[in-house]
Formats: sequence, C-alpha cells, structure tokens
Amino acid sequence: AHDSRRGRLPFRAIAPQPASTDAFTVPSGYRWRPLVRWGDPLFSTRDAFDPATVTPEQAARQFGYNCDYVDVLEDRGGRTGLLVVNHEYTNENLMFPPATTPAEVERQRRVGMAAHGMSVVAVQRSRSGEPWSYRVGARQNRRITVSTPFAFTGPAAGSPLLRTVDDPAGTTPVGTLNNCAGGTTPWGTVLSGEENFNQYFRTAGTSAADRRYGLADRATTRGWELVEPRFDARTPGYENEPNRHGWIVEVDPQDPTSTPVKHTALGRFKHEGANVVVGRTGHVVAYMGDDERFDYVYKFVSKERYKEGARHREHNKRLLSAGSLYVARFTGDSPAAELDGTGTLPSDGQFDGSGEWIPLVVDGVSKVPGFTTDQVLVHTRLAADAVGATKMDRPEDVEPNPATGRIYIACTNNTDRGAAGKEGATEPNPRVQNRFGHVVEITEHRNDATSTRFGWSILLVCGDPATTQNTYFAGFPPEKVSPISCPDNVAFDSTGNLWISTDGQPGTIGYCDGLFKVPLTGRERGHVQQFLAVPRGAETCGPVVRDRQDMVYVAVQHPGEDGAWGAQQSFFPDYVAPGTLARGRWGGPRPSVVQVWKD
Ligand code: FEO
Ligand code: CA
Ligand code: CA
Ligand code: CA
Repeated sequence: AHDSRRGRLPFRAIAPQPASTDAFTVPSGYRWRPLVRWGDPLFSTRDAFDPATVTPEQAARQFGYNCDYVDVLEDRGGRTGLLVVNHEYTNENLMFPPATTPAEVERQRRVGMAAHGMSVVAVQRSRSGEPWSYRVGARQNRRITVSTPFAFTGPAAGSPLLRTVDDPAGTTPVGTLNNCAGGTTPWGTVLSGEENFNQYFRTAGTSAADRRYGLADRATTRGWELVEPRFDARTPGYENEPNRHGWIVEVDPQDPTSTPVKHTALGRFKHEGANVVVGRTGHVVAYMGDDERFDYVYKFVSKERYKEGARHREHNKRLLSAGSLYVARFTGDSPAAELDGTGTLPSDGQFDGSGEWIPLVVDGVSKVPGFTTDQVLVHTRLAADAVGATKMDRPEDVEPNPATGRIYIACTNNTDRGAAGKEGATEPNPRVQNRFGHVVEITEHRNDATSTRFGWSILLVCGDPATTQNTYFAGFPPEKVSPISCPDNVAFDSTGNLWISTDGQPGTIGYCDGLFKVPLTGRERGHVQQFLAVPRGAETCGPVVRDRQDMVYVAVQHPGEDGAWGAQQSFFPDYVAPGTLARGRWGGPRPSVVQVWKD
C-alpha cells in the first residue's frame, strides 16, 4: 500500500510502544534529531543551559519549556527559514531541584514565567529535505514571554472589562500564557491559542464568569500571584487582569520588532488554537476549539477579504480584527433510542447529521439577547451557553483540510460524559466515559467556509481495538489499524491525508503517545497507521508533515512528566547519565522540537 518513491513519506507503521519506553521511535529507514531543546541559547552562547544557575533574564533568552505548536516557515529555496513554537507551560519539579530558600523559590518562579510563551528561531541547512540546525544570535530570533507587550484588536479593545491600573485604556495587555496549539495564516503570521489561563490567577471567584472559566479564590500551584500582583485579581486595580488572557494571539515572525496582538473578535475561552482558511468568497475563516469537557467549537468569518501577495500583508494582518463569530450546533439524524452510549453505530450505519453555525456577533454587533458585544467577546462561554451550542468532548484542534475544505475536530476525551448530573451520549459525542476520544469531520454547505450550515459525520471513534469495545475507523477493519487514543493536534500532508498527534495514550491504552497517518479517501479511508512514538511521559504536539521532502517535525512536550528531580523517568533527548551536565547535554528530560527525515 506504500509508495516507495522519494517525496511521498513512505513508511511501514511502527509497533505501538509500551508506556515505559524512554525512546523516540521512528519507522525503519528514518532518522531523528532534536532541532532545538529547552534551555538552548537563542541570542548568545553565553546563555548556555544550566538549570541549577539559570537566571530569569537568561531564561528569557533561551528556548522555552513544553513546546506545543510548531511550524517551519521555509524561505524560497528551502535552505533558510523560521521555526515558530509555542511554550505552553512548565514542570518545575522536573526543571529544578526542590527549592529550599525564599530566594530560590522566587528564582524558580521567575524562570518558569520566562520559559512560557513563544519562540521564533532562525534555522538553516545545506539543502532542502535535509535536517536543519538553528542559528544562535540570528536577527529574527525572538522570545515572547509573560512580560512581552501586546495590543488588543477588535470590538472589545478598550472595553471597561479589559482595563487595569497598569492599562487604564484597556488596549495594551502584557504577556501571553499557556500557548497551546496554533495555526499559520495564509499571509505568513502565526496564531497561538491561550488555553488554560485560569490556573495562573487567584480571583474573587464569585461571579458567574469566574465559575464558568474555572477562576477561583485559592492559592495557585505556581504562586505567581506572590511574584506579580496582577496575578492576584483580588488586588484593587487588577480585577480585570484574567480577562486579558484566553485570547487568540497573532505574531508576525518576519518582523522581530512587531507588537504581537490579541484578537478580541475571536472570543475568549480556553483556546486550543485557530486555523485559518481563505473561503471561496475571499473572506477568511478561523476554526477554533474550546478545550474543556462539554465545551464548544467556534468559527470566525472576516468582514474584509483576503488579498493575495506580500504587498497586502498589512491589510491581511487586520482581517482577524473585524467580522462575525459563530458557535456550532450539531444535530444528529438518528433516533436517540439508537444511541446507547457505548459507541455502537445507529441503524443508518453512521454517527452523522447536520449542523448550524449560530451567530454570537455579526459584523461587530452582538446577536445574543442580554449580552453586549463586549460581554459576548470577553465572556464568550456564557454567551454560547445562552444560544444552545452543542457540548463536545473537549474539542482540541479544529482544522480545515487544504485539499478538500473539510474540517476535522479532535475531541480528545471526556470521562465525564454520562456521569451523574452530566449530559449523556449524543450522536456527535456517542460514547459515555469517553476515555479514548473521537474525530468529527465537517463539510460546510456547498463547501463554502462562510456558510452557516454544515453536514458532519464521525471519522474515528478511537481506542485499541484489541482491548476496547466499539472503536470505529470509518469502516476500515479495526484489526488492521494502529491503536490510537486521545487525538489532540491534527495536520495534513500535501495530498490531504490527515495526521493526528496524541496526548494521553499511556493512561488510556497503555502506549506512548505518537503521530498517526489517516487516509481520508477511497478504500484506505480510516486506515490509522502510527508513524512515530515519543518517549515516556510525553505528549506529541505540533505535527508538521512535509511529505514532499520526506520530513516530519513534532514537539515532544513534557517528557518524563510523572518523574521528579533526582527521580527522572526520561532522559530524552540527550540520554546522558542522570543529573549530569556536560558539553550542553543534560541527564534529565528536555522538551524539544524533533525533526524526522528519510535516510
Ligand atoms: Fe493544551 Fe488542549 O491542549
Ligand atoms: Ca446517523
Ligand atoms: Ca493540545
Ligand atoms: Ca491535550
């Protein structure tokens, strides 16, 4: 079934790796190497990695922790480019020895803050298709952290809901947090989702919005509220600081001096990421998931049209500032009586139906009774609750396939579905105690991304067919697929195959997380094949599939996450003796961006 010619990424699926495997596993005929690791210096070799002594200032000049979204923006010729990466969060228990003094506690907190955010890193290689090296001190290198100045765009910029004592105009938020997945726009900028921002704030915790967003009056695990008062929203003047996080961020990696923006028109929730497509009308559409159990899928449609060409870059960079925001309602076409919650197919042989994009804001004006436009955009979850959106099983990446225009939603899992007091199985979320997740495919009406109607069906109901009842692989024989669980990020290759990276296989099907190819057409539709596995404790993120170059990139996030300092469970990627640091190689886990190429 595999094409052996160069440029098609031919491979034979790897065996699933037991969850204790501390190795990065690639198919026969492929090699791998880290491109950049946590703590690698970006601006000067004087900032060499040493977790025992690193200062917050140095950490802000090094590659950050827990890489998630990845893209490689290649220049013409493919020998130079920019790597753009999100740094979602930090694992202090793996990064540092236990702190024993107040000064050490503060150093670790501040280094952790600086290791959040994003990195832009110049890369080079001798020929297209070969592995890259990164360039220390390149002009384009950039770190974006918790301290970087941003600007709000869109209808809620300047809203009273966004004002603090530091920014009475409500237009210039500082820093970005918990940057999870993202997307590269057709005009060459990068979008990044601020996801679980609530964990960084202590708040009064009494409002409906605080409760809906998981904001509470309790000390945070990270203790940043003890370092900077803005992280304690009980502090007079900082009540609105949490409202300044939870947005889609846009960064122009080509201009290291540009001010990154937060787009209020795209709403505020636990943004996994955003992926933009130019619709056939020329309007751009951004698809987005809110990664929480029983939360929603959204899309934004721009008011203005995309203009092709580099000279229109500034116009295009404003497209996400004005337009309409919708939330998805899915309707099944099978009787509820045919859904028993185990994931057994209804009598029509498919989990499928129709859907509607319910308007929340149209051309900058609220369509939700009782909500002003500001309120819809800042407290988007409350507005979406009010219009009856469909509660999904943790929608992570929501991404259009460039080859077909169909949109794929990775519903990673939802163990609460069907629990006492919670919603049970529905046709778009057909399994109770959904530990393994599923993938939903959307077809917009007339394949018009701006349409308010769509059709949908479930592509995969994940799990290990050898041990899980009622998996479904679009009709492909379950005994012939790689086991897969907890789909998180998705990508597409040049011919429109779906690639899925996972987060949660060790705790659900007992295998290391990995990257999987899924053909979407013909007899191979649903044939899940594992391409790589990441080491023990890690999730696989940010896949980039450059099949024409026989190359793949992934982020290895939180390797060895269940270990601790002195009790490491992973030595990826340097694999030297525990605790040692020699010539830049460290005996402990380092989240890294890995490149894989055909030998
Ligand atoms: Fe940060 Fe939803 O994963
Ligand atoms: Ca059906
Ligand atoms: Ca994710
Ligand atoms: Ca996840």
